[in-house]
Amino acid sequence: MTDITGIQKKLEKRLKPERYEHTLGVMYTAASLAMCHDADISKAMLAGLLHDCGKYCSGKEQIRLCREFNITLTESERKMPALIHAKLGAYLAEHEYNIKDSDILGAITYHTTGKPEMSLLEKIIYIADYIEPGRQEIPVLSEVRSAAFSNLNRAVALSAGSTISYLQNVGREIDPATVRTYEFYHTN
Ligand SMILES: [Fe+2]
Ligand SMILES: [Fe+2]
Repeated sequence: MTDITGIQKKLEKRLKPERYEHTLGVMYTAASLAMCHDADISKAMLAGLLHDCGKYCSGKEQIRLCREFNITLTESERKMPALIHAKLGAYLAEHEYNIKDSDILGAITYHTTGKPEMSLLEKIIYIADYIEPGRQEIPVLSEVRSAAFSNLNRAVALSAGSTISYLQNVGREIDPATVRTYEFYHTN
């Protein structure tokens, strides 16, 4: 049995207060989604708790750590360092927080971009990160929140679609994985 409270205490010390608040929001939202969709509640809480554990240091430091741990970065991760914490987080979850469950590690790895054919837990964390109560209100949010509890695939399509439009509007680079996620869930 993994010690959720112990990990929680460690993260409270490591993360900035607002990041820690967000982390708890994702953990409890993931638990609610797991109840709704009949997924493993403890796994959902652990994945939610650890999803941003790679964000405890600056972007530069995250890149340095990836080099140190031999974590290979993709072209888009090099261009968009905001994505790196997901892969780094999965590495830390495994080696520092002793999480061996591949589904939890996958949920941490793919929480920023999603991917086609996600597992139930991967979808839950992707969506919980998007809809947790502390998220700043944006027009699509209430629609994603209600879809999250009735049609998870639709919720994934809506959030990936809205991420793409947002990045297009502000003229920022879009990770091809987000586009693949949108295309897959938009039609499934
Ligand atoms: Fe994140
Ligand atoms: Fe997050």
